[in-house]
Amino acid sequence: MLSIRGRRCVITGGSRGIGLAIAKLFAFKEANCTLIGRHEESLEKAVQSLCSKPLQSHKWLAFDVSDPKGWEELMQNKKSNPIDILVNAAGISQNSFLMNTPEAELDKILDVNLKGTILGCKSVILPMMKRKTGCIINISSLLATHGGRGASVYAASKAGIIGLTRSLAWEVGRFNVRANVIQPGYIHTDMTKGMNKDGDLAALIPMGRLGEATEVAEAALFLATNKYAHNCVLNIDGGLSAT
Ligand SMILES: NC(=O)c1ccc[n+]([C@@H]2O[C@H](COP(=O)([O-])OP(=O)(O)OC[C@H]3O[C@@H](n4cnc5c(N)ncnc54)[C@H](OP(=O)(O)O)[C@@H]3O)[C@@H](O)[C@H]2O)c1
Repeated sequence: MLSIRGRRCVITGGSRGIGLAIAKLFAFKEANCTLIGRHEESLEKAVQSLCSKPLQSHKWLAFDVSDPKGWEELMQNKKSNPIDILVNAAGISQNSFLMNTPEAELDKILDVNLKGTILGCKSVILPMMKRKTGCIINISSLLATHGGRGASVYAASKAGIIGLTRSLAWEVGRFNVRANVIQPGYIHTDMTKGMNKDGDLAALIPMGRLGEATEVAEAALFLATNKYAHNCVLNIDGGLSAT
C-alpha cells in the first residue's frame, strides 16, 4: 500500500462538496493539497479547513478548469514541486430536458465537466510519466451509464470522462501512472440540494439514503493508495447501479 503522506495533490472542485471532502481526507493523511475552483474566498476558506501539521502546506489557485491558461499557470507553479496526484472533481450539473437546453448551456457543461477533465489530465501526464509515478482520479457520475431525466448533456460529459480515463489508462499505465474513475450515485452536496425534499430519491436507492461526500473521499483514498488499482470505474452509490 502506498502512503500519501507528503504527496502533492491537486484537487479541482476542492472548494466544497466531494472535492473538499477528498482534500480533507488527504490532508488528514498528511498529503499537501492544492485546491482549484473559481472563487478565491471559498478556496481560502477551504484551505483553512484542512488539517495541517508542521511539514504540510496547502495552497489554492483560482481558475476555470475549462481554460487552458489556468492549467498552464498551475503547471508553471508546480515545476519545482511536481504533482503526484490529480483529482478532477470540478463539475456542474444540468436540470433541463435536451430540447430545452440552450446551446450555450450545453457548451458550458461539456467545457467544464469534460474538457476541464481532459485538460487536467493532459497537463499532468508527461511530468508524471517522466517521473514514473502518478495517480489521476476522475469523478464521473452514475448518470454516465444509467442516464437520467433532464441530465442528457451532463450524462454525456460524464460518460466522456469514463472513455477518456479508459484510454488514458492504456497510454500511461506502463509508466506507472495510474488513472481511475469514481462513479458516485446521489451524494449530499450543494449539487443535490433540494433534490430529495420528499424522500422519494432515497427510496429508489437500495441503501435507502443518499451518500456522503466523505464516503466518496474514502474511495478516492483507496485509489490513491492501492498500487495496482488502474483503469477502474468504482461505483459509490448505495447499490443504485445494480438496480
Ligand atoms: N453530488 C452528487 O450527487 C454527485 C454525483 C455524481 C457525480 N458528482 C460529481 O462530483 C463532482 C463534485 O460534485 P459536488 O457534488 O461536490 O458539487 P458541488 O458541491 O456543486 O461542487 C462543485 C465544485 O466544482 C467547482 N467548479 C464548478 N465549476 C468549475 C469551473 N468551471 N472551474 C473550476 N471549478 C469549478 C466548484 O467551485 P466554484 O463554484 O467555487 O468554482 C466546486 O468546488 C462533480 O464533478 C459532480 O459532477 C456529484
